Amino acid sequence: MRKPQSLLITGASSGIGRALALAYAEPGTRLTLIGRNELRLADTAGAAAAKGADVTPVPLDVRDRAKMTAWIAAADRNHPFDLVIANAGITTGLAPGALTEDPDAVRAILATNLIGVLNTVEPLITPMCSRGQGQIAFIGSMAGLRGLPYSPAYCLTKAGVHAYAESLRGRLERRGVCVSLAIVGFVKTPLNDSITAMKPFEISDTRAAEIIKVGLARGRATIAFPWPLYMATRLGRLLPARLYDRIMARIEANVPETRERL
Ligand SMILES: NC(=O)c1ccc[n+]([C@@H]2O[C@H](COP(=O)([O-])OP(=O)(O)OC[C@H]3O[C@@H](n4cnc5c(N)ncnc54)[C@H](OP(=O)(O)O)[C@@H]3O)[C@@H](O)[C@H]2O)c1
Repeated sequence: MRKPQSLLITGASSGIGRALALAYAEPGTRLTLIGRNELRLADTAGAAAAKGADVTPVPLDVRDRAKMTAWIAAADRNHPFDLVIANAGITTGLAPGALTEDPDAVRAILATNLIGVLNTVEPLITPMCSRGQGQIAFIGSMAGLRGLPYSPAYCLTKAGVHAYAESLRGRLERRGVCVSLAIVGFVKTPLNDSITAMKPFEISDTRAAEIIKVGLARGRATIAFPWPLYMATRLGRLLPARLYDRIMARIEANVPETRERL
C-alpha cells in the first residue's frame, strides 16, 4: 500500500485510537482526529503535533449522521483522505447472574458501534472509488467471531462490523479501495479496564497500534491478533455449539453496563 498521507481516525481521544494517531504522526502526515471529549482529544492532537504531524482535532459524536456526513465530505474535498480508521466504540454487557441487558444500553451501543461506523465510512466510499484509491479500516474484535454469554450486544455490533467489512471488501476492492478488518483481542485501555475477566495475551494500546499499522501497510484483508487467541476462537467454532457454550459459561466475567446516550 502507498504510505497514507491524509488519515481520518475516530475515537482518537483514548486507547487504541489515540495510539494509532501517535503511530502515524510524523512530518508530512495530515491527521484528522474525531472524538467527543475535547480535552482528551486536544491532548492526543498535541502529542501527535509534537511528532510533526499536521493535526486537526474534530470534536464530533459519531452517532450524529448529519454532522459526520457534512464534516467528512467537506474535509475530504479539501484534503482527500487515503486512510479512514473506524475505531470509535463502547462496550456494555452483563454482570454475573444478570439475564438481560438494559434495552436502552443495547440501543446505545448499536448507535455507536454500528451506526457510528456507517456514519464514518459511508461519506468516503464514493469519493474513494471515484479516485480509484484509498483504504477503509474497521476495528473489530474477537467478540465478533463468536457470541459470548457476557456481552451479547457488544458481540452483535462487532459481528455486524465484520460482516459489513467483508461485504464492502468484495465490492470496493475492484474499484481500487482496500478494505481491512482488524480482529482485536485484549488491549489495555479504559474500555478494557472496565471489564473484570481473565484477559489472556493482553497487550498495550501502543503495541496494538503498531500491529494494526503494519497490517494496514501490507493491505491485509484481516489483521487478527494475538494469534493464539484468534486460533483458539476459530478452533472453538468447530466444536459443537452447546459444548462451546458450556466452556464459555465456566469463564467468570463481569462486563458492566455502559450507559451512552445521545
Ligand atoms: N480494548 C480492547 O480490549 C478492545 C478489544 C477489541 C476491540 N476493541 C475495539 O477498539 C475500539 C477502541 O476501543 P478502546 O479499547 O481504545 O476504548 P477506549 O479507550 O474507551 O476508546 C474509545 C474511543 O471511542 C470514542 N468514542 C466512543 N463513543 C463515541 C462517540 N459516540 N463519538 C465519537 N467517539 C466516540 C471515545 O472518545 P470520546 O469518549 O472522547 O467520545 C474514545 O476515543 C473500539 O471499537 C473497541 O470495541 C477494543
